This record gives sequence, structure tokens and C-alpha cells, in this order.
Amino acid sequence: MKIVVIGTGYVGLVQGVCLAELGNEVACVDLDEAKITKLKNGESPIYEPGIEELIKKNLKQERIFFDTSLKKHLKNAEIVFIAVGTPSDGKGKADLKYVTAAAEDIGKNLNHYAIIVNKSTVPIGTGEMVKNTIKKYYKEDFDVVSNPEFLKEGAALDDFFHPDRVVIGVNGSKKAAERIAELYKVLNCPIVVTNLETAEMIKYASNSYLATQISFINSIANICEKVGADVTDVSRGMKLDKRIGERAFLNAGIGYGGSCFPKDVSAMVEIAKESKENFRILEEVEATNKEQRQKFIKKIVDNLGKIQGKRIAVWGIAFKAKTDDIREAPAITIIESLQNLGAEVLAYDPVAEENARRVMPDVIYVSRPQDACKKADALVIVTDWDEFKQVDLKAIASLMKNKYIFDGRNIYDSDEVKKTGFKYYGIGR
Ligand code: UGA
Repeated sequence: MKIVVIGTGYVGLVQGVCLAELGNEVACVDLDEAKITKLKNGESPIYEPGIEELIKKNLKQERIFFDTSLKKHLKNAEIVFIAVGTPSDGKGKADLKYVTAAAEDIGKNLNHYAIIVNKSTVPIGTGEMVKNTIKKYYKEDFDVVSNPEFLKEGAALDDFFHPDRVVIGVNGSKKAAERIAELYKVLNCPIVVTNLETAEMIKYASNSYLATQISFINSIANICEKVGADVTDVSRGMKLDKRIGERAFLNAGIGYGGSCFPKDVSAMVEIAKESKENFRILEEVEATNKEQRQKFIKKIVDNLGKIQGKRIAVWGIAFKAKTDDIREAPAITIIESLQNLGAEVLAYDPVAEENARRVMPDVIYVSRPQDACKKADALVIVTDWDEFKQVDLKAIASLMKNKYIFDGRNIYDSDEVKKTGFKYYGIGR
């Protein structure tokens, strides 16, 4: 099929590249010229394991094209994905200015029947808004479909090629839904066809539910600390219940970050308010998530004593492992708070340093984890990168002035760590 994808952020780029890999002819369009130039040269503007290889391969096979002009590629397109950003408007709602602009651009340039697919995470009712916006400029037949994405950063390609499900929402033409379903048929997964509003809701409900699991287990973790239980075992015990499941988001830590959960949870709360309904559970999920970072900072302060003049090593800045994304990363709150209290922070992250330098210029960045620990008073684990899991902690301890580990992700076995001479503080254990 001939496909256009508008927006080359995480969602758009992964969607475009993976559809090309399945044999479709895909044009990825973005207004950002620097990004498009990079992509044309086979370089990925984002860090996502495996994506650069697929970009290069599909460029060579002439199945993928990168361009700044929508008009040129819209001419032949059968399907147009809108995958532009929907940042928070600052008041908790999703800002739809990029979605609206994309819909206008489509309306002004469309000259044949096409299926417009909304891939961006948008408030319920946006599909209809997109339809009406296009209609203002284009009076002939077209369809609007919602096809939310469920990709996790760092595992996006695997999630695309092995999805748990594909959701397709459409009001009216079932033919359009069938055509989009054909795109994913080779992936052999359940395909849920609904109306537009339901598809949009499935996305918000899924992210809100996963975020709820995280705040739930973090609350359990905080109680575990008081009653002498270990949340990692509680979580393992819970996940073996098949109704809860081994992939449940029940790993306690310093709370969720990233470009999706924080934004989508607060948007869901706003959607509830606009519908004159309370979503008290979700309001608490948000509050608990914010508190969780503060509790971690307090744990460091309570145990280290005066922070002024202390040298603190931070391992991991990205909001989770396998990504360079630092949006809403707990690391930012934690590092800035420690600096405000007078600490000197040395930080290491395998891929997020460049992004981190832009928002936290006053941190000392090092290129090896051990370099952050020299003469440090404490080691703080913020991101669960695999490379931290099997380091020689005895060797690390020998570099440090004071031997404290604050493990915000519970990546270590607390008993094993204690044998290396460290004082160990995890979450909920
Ligand atoms: C999330 C969803 O998992 C995807 O299904 C969805 O498509 C995506 O948002 C989106 O809406 O685009 P993502 O934000 O990439 O994906 O990352 P997750 O793996 O879900 O992690 C989110 C945050 O929760 C991270 O900060 C992570 O460290 C934290 N987390 C996750 C926990 O603290 N505990 C857990 O058990 C799981």
C-alpha cells in the first residue's frame, strides 16, 4: 500500500519504518528540515534499538522516503497517518494544535479518496474534529479512522511486530476499518474494531490503568518499608496470579515518567471532569506518583544527613532503560533537588547525556559509571539500565568516600549488596 505518515517523532517514525519493513511504500513527512536531512542519510533522530538499521535497509530498497512536503506524497497516498505530537497544554489537557494543522494540510491538498488514520494520542472526540476540519477544505469522500499505538520506548520495534492487539476505530465506513486491518493482518494478533470514540478511550484507559498499577505498587512499597515486608517478593507473588499477570506494571520504584503516562493520566482526569464525572482513583495515581520522587529524595537526605558539600553519583538519567528520552524523567527532579540542597552531582547515562546536558547544564557528566563514584558520598540508581546490574560493587565501593547506595529501581539484591560493605536503601524493602 502507498502510505504517508505525518510526524517523525517516536510514534510516526516507528510506524513508518515498520510499515515499510512489511513491504509498503511509505513517505514520512515532517516540517523539521534538519530531522528530514538526517533521516535521508539513514540516521535516526531518536535512540531506539534497531531502528537505524531498518531505516537504512528500507531507504536502500526504496520503500521509505523522507520529505518536508506533504503535498507531493499525498497525491498517491491510500492511507495517511497523523502521528504528530500532542503535548500537554500546561493545564493538563492535550494540546491539539499540531493535529489540527495536519488535518488542515490534508484537507487543502487531498484530491482523491484516502483513509486518514489518527495515531496520535488524542482526547475522545478528536477523530470527529479531524473529519470536520478536513471537510472544510475537501468536499469529496474520505474516511477517518483511529488506530492508537501501544509501543513502549526502547522496545518499540518488537511491540510493533508482535502486538498484543491492534485497535481500529471508525464511525461509518466499515470498509475503511477493513482496509486498515489488512495492514496488520500479517502480524497475527487480535484486531479490535470499534467506533472512533471507543478506540480513543481504549488508549487512555490502557495507559491510565498501567499507571495505576505503578502507583498502587509504590504505595504498597511504602507500607512494606514500615512493616518489614519486601515489595519485590510481594510483586512476584502477585504476578503469579494469572488474573494479575507476569507482565503487570508492578515494579516499585521512583514513579513513572516519560512522554506518555504523566500526560495521558492528567488528560484522562480532565476528560472525566469535562464529562462531569470524578476520576478520584486517577487523581490519586497522579499525586502518589509525584510524592514517590519526593519520598526517594527524603530517604537520601534522612540517611546522608547534610547534603551541602556532598558528592553524589547518579547512574541513569533517562526516564527508563533503553531510551535517551528524559521527558518527565524522575532523574531531573532528583538531581535538581540534590543540587538545590548543595550537592555536587556526577551523572552517567549510556545514551541520555546529550539530552540531559540541555536541561541540566550544571551536572558533571562522566563517560563511565565508575567515574561518577570517585570520592562520592553516595551512589543513586535512577534508571534500570542492564549495564548497572552486574557491576563489581566491591570495586565501586573502593572508589567511594562513603558507601551508600540508594537504589530507586530495586535492581540489586539487598543482601548481596550489603556483603560488599555498602549501606543499601531500595524501595519497599
Ligand atoms: C507507555 C506504554 O507502556 C505503551 O503501551 C504506550 O504505547 C506508550 O506509553 C505511549 O502511550 O506512547 P512508555 O512510556 O514508552 O510506554 O514506557 P513504559 O515502559 O510504559 O514505562 C513508563 C514509565 O513507567 C517509566 O518511567 C517506567 O520506568 C515506569 N514503570 C513501568 C515503573 O515504574 N514500574 C513498572 O512496573 C513499569
